[in-house]
Parts: sequence; structure tokens; C-alpha cells
Amino acid sequence: MSRSSRDYLLIVPTALVLVALFAGPAFAEDEGQGAFVAQKCNMCHSVPQAELVAKVKSEKMKGPDLPAVARDSEWLTQFLKREIQNEGQEHKKEYTGTDEELQAIAAWLAKLDVPAQ
Ligand code: HEC
Repeated sequence: MSRSSRDYLLIVPTALVLVALFAGPAFAEDEGQGAFVAQKCNMCHSVPQAELVAKVKSEKMKGPDLPAVARDSEWLTQFLKREIQNEGQEHKKEYTGTDEELQAIAAWLAKLDVPAQ
């Protein structure tokens, strides 16, 4: 075996470990994603960017994929608390989590809401 290919055998696994170590936290579940799942938003909403798929089978229950449209966090907070309506409709489910979780969810959705590549 030539010297360079042996080096390669060492470098690749080392690089993979380093990538996993450094990239890990960035890709790890976001606080907002954790809250989204904890609050069971993923029952009714898919989030394709995060590979979350809505669990309900019924199309009537299901909400739009999120982040559907750019919504600022104030709108989202008020809408989920049913203080405001969306095109004359209240949100399907009243929010019962904490304000901190709701903020984390809103920030997470805003972060994901980037134009498709
Ligand atoms: C029981 C099913 C259900 C659950 C659980 C649920 N939603 Fe919804 N959601 C809907 C439906 C249906 C709509 C669309 C009709 C409406 O506005 O109520 C909707 C609409 C929305 C919209 C507006 C989308 C848009 O821009 O038009 C947002 C944002 C949203 N939901 C976020 C959430 C978040 C965050 C959670 C978790 C805290 C959650 N939803 C939990 C069913 C659900």
C-alpha cells in the first residue's frame, strides 16, 4: 500500500469524527423543535425542513406544512393563544404550553423559513 493511500485511510475517519463533533450541536435538535414536538404541533403540522411529518391521518385535522408563510413571532404568539384569527379562523388547537416554549417555537420556525434553494 502506498504511503498516500494509508494516510487517506487515517484522515477520512478522523475528518468524519471532527465533522461530527463540530457539526453535531448545530444539527442537534433545536430548543424550538423540541418544544414544537413537546407541544404536539407535529400531530397536525409537517415541517419538511426538519423532516417532521404530521401524525394525524385525517386531512380535516391536518394543518398546513410549516413554516407556511413568513409569520412574525408576535403574530404567531397571538394566533396560537387565540387572541387573533387567521382569515376569520381561530387556530385549531388552543396553545397550552409556556410562553418560553412558544418563543422558542416561533424563533425556530422563523429560522427555518428561508426560501427554497
Ligand atoms: C389539532 C391539530 C393542530 C395542532 C395540534 C396544531 N395545529 Fe396549527 N393549525 C392547524 C390547522 C387545521 C390550521 C389551519 C386552520 C387554522 O388556522 O386553524 C393551523 C394553522 C397554523 C398556523 C398558521 C399557518 C398559516 O400561516 O396559515 C400556524 C403558524 C400553526 N398552525 C402553528 C402551530 C403550532 C406552533 C402548533 C403547536 C403549538 C400547532 N400549530 C398545533 C392544526 C393544528
